[in-house]
Amino acid sequence: MSNDMLHLRKATPFDIDILFRWVNDKKVRQNAFDSHTITYEEHVVWFDRMINDTNQAQYILMLSDKPIGQVRLTMKGTEAEIDYSISKSVRGCGYGGEIVGLIKEKIQEEYPFIRKLIGRVKSSNIASYRCFMKNNFEETYRQFEYVYK
Ligand SMILES: CC(C)(COP(=O)(O)OP(=O)(O)OC[C@H]1O[C@@H](n2cnc3c(N)ncnc32)[C@H](O)[C@@H]1OP(=O)(O)O)[C@@H](O)C(=O)NCCC(=O)NCCS
Repeated sequence: MSNDMLHLRKATPFDIDILFRWVNDKKVRQNAFDSHTITYEEHVVWFDRMINDTNQAQYILMLSDKPIGQVRLTMKGTEAEIDYSISKSVRGCGYGGEIVGLIKEKIQEEYPFIRKLIGRVKSSNIASYRCFMKNNFEETYRQFEYVYK
């Protein structure tokens, strides 16, 4: 895989529909902490707020001229939380690990005041766990839950 072909570009208003398609992907909803299906109306309101929020930065992962994933930063002070996904048709090809590495570099270039990156991952999401671990993140937290039947 050539890294020249694989790059992040800043999202524009034209990305509203591709992000809507990706956000309701079955695995994306399963792995999200709020798993409800998102309506287009909700998405439009969310997108408009997000794209105009200086504390958020949305990028699209491009393989040459083809969009294959997304990563979004939500910044608070010197910390940034990372939300990301890879298009279903190209999962399992290594792009998840690549996108985490690329966003680490991008933050150093564009947001040098950010000192800590955070990824919140469900225990069942082994692929995402591996993407963070291979990019030298450390596991700092585990949450245990008991649900009454
Ligand atoms: C998580 C996600 C981004 C990973 O992207 P990907 O391109 O499929 O991941 P990669 O191909 O880079 O694989 C990363 C590692 O996970 C492993 N892996 C991939 N799919 C896996 C699966 N279904 N189960 C277990 N391991 C898996 C790979 O073998 C690789 O491990 P290795 O490098 O140690 O061999 C992608 O599955 C996705 O978009 N999921 C839905 C959204 C999501 O979960 N986002 C993250 C929220 S925290």
